[in-house]
Amino acid sequence: MEFNSKEEWEKKIKRVIIPEEEIRKEIRKAGEMINSVYDGSPILLVSILKGSFIFMADLCREVTVPCEIAFMAAKSYFEGTESSGHVEITMDLKHDISRYHVIIIEDIIDTGRTLNEIIKLLKVREPLSIRVITLLDKPDRRVVELKADYSLFTIPDYFVIGYGLDYGEFYRNLPYIAEFEE
Ligand code: IMP
Ligand code: MG
Repeated sequence: MEFNSKEEWEKKIKRVIIPEEEIRKEIRKAGEMINSVYDGSPILLVSILKGSFIFMADLCREVTVPCEIAFMAAKSYFEGTESSGHVEITMDLKHDISRYHVIIIEDIIDTGRTLNEIIKLLKVREPLSIRVITLLDKPDRRVVELKADYSLFTIPDYFVIGYGLDYGEFYRNLPYIAEFEE
């Protein structure tokens, strides 16, 4: 991705689909859910990098029960515009997750292949429980059966950017979620 001017970069931001205030409101609710379901037993919030870094930072500040934070990075291989289900873990957890209730913090579930592979891998390590919280869900695009335990926003099949999500590594810093101008 290359831009010659700020205008060129801006032109690709088609329209805001979820403004900042709305994201904030839904994150508060997601935090309340975590606080009501877990009562003090050890929680490990696992952010899948890079897409969920902002979501994790905002969500963890709504959590009022003891929790630890961890990061994991996965590289999904794509065939055309879809992930192939071949996932390589480029940064693994250092925690022994058998002592924790794991909550996976994801940016978006599209075909579901990437997360499906990550869940399979983590389940082998026998955490006390495992749940998935996703900021965005595109259920129309699903090719493997996978449902988040908690999804903040369900969106149609748009390519979206902002609030952690990228196009060619750009736009992650936008404070809102926007539709990308293809
Ligand atoms: P999946 O394996 O098809 O579910 O792919 C999920 C990954 O693809 C996400 O974690 C994102 O990194 C990326 N992705 C899918 N849809 C979008 C989008 O609309 N904008 C930005 N990244 C996306
Ligand atoms: Mg991504």
